[in-house]
Amino acid sequence: MKVLVATEKPFAKTAVDGIRNIVEKAGYTLALLEKYTDVNDLYKAVADADALIVRSDKVTKEVVAAAQNLKIVVRAGAGFDNLDLAACTERGIVAMNTPGQNSNAVAELALGMMVYMARNQYTPGTGSELKGKKLGIHAYGNVGRLAAHIAKGFGMEVYAFDPFVPADKMKAEGIIPVEKMEDLYSTCHYISLHIPANEQTKKSIGYNLLSRMPKGGCLINTARKEVINEEEIVKAMEERADLKYCADIAPANAEEMKAKFGTRFFATPKKMGAETAEANINAGLAAANQIVKFFQTGDKTFQVNK
Ligand code: 3PG
Repeated sequence: MKVLVATEKPFAKTAVDGIRNIVEKAGYTLALLEKYTDVNDLYKAVADADALIVRSDKVTKEVVAAAQNLKIVVRAGAGFDNLDLAACTERGIVAMNTPGQNSNAVAELALGMMVYMARNQYTPGTGSELKGKKLGIHAYGNVGRLAAHIAKGFGMEVYAFDPFVPADKMKAEGIIPVEKMEDLYSTCHYISLHIPANEQTKKSIGYNLLSRMPKGGCLINTARKEVINEEEIVKAMEERADLKYCADIAPANAEEMKAKFGTRFFATPKKMGAETAEANINAGLAAANQIVKFFQTGDKTFQVNK
């Protein structure tokens, strides 16, 4: 049985060592394809793989077609918008993610970004504090919940919008539930985005939401760039010189935004929310364990293509 780890953005070495240990202990072989720049290398490497572990690597229908032995693919992380689920399902391949495993790293980055933007990207001049400010968590899942918890430590007042989470659960955790998405944006100085990228959410965050934010409003996006309507964000920020946008992974118009908005805009050059040794270990090892469990017991917990 061959398990391929294909990561254009490699895991920390300790995580790879841990994955190898789990895979070899189960009697399987580990193959590693890291930092590949040519997708043909992935097609070749996956040809005889029974299982595949990826990060944000795109598992397209071409990858699936090249992987004739593949039975399971695990996205070591939360968002699985990089997997062609229909292609997997058609071939009977089980697709999974590892929810919650890298959430703390992303939540910490979201708060770090808030401080960075509040202090004008650490350039000289007067900034502001997070204490006493209202934070809106847009989607109260694993990351949103942790970001909310950390924010309370900063003394922020935390609100959340999530139609899939009961208001009572939020209240029990000291969070103020908001029924309408628009109201979250009208209320909060900071919005932290934690929605997945799918057909319903793509380009859903734009002018109508950003322009409602109170004075000094700052949008923090550690989710996906695809959920943002970039042209509309530019329009809102052109109209109001107080609005800010900070993103983990540069939008297509990053250069334009940098030139126009200076310290009101920041984007990481490469997605780094889950780039901690701890997150790599948590998500990588979980992926390896899920694969072993699947082969040994048929366990399909965390399957996403049901
Ligand atoms: C996720 O969805 O888990 C995060 O975006 C992490 O993505 P990465 O594994 O590419 O860093």
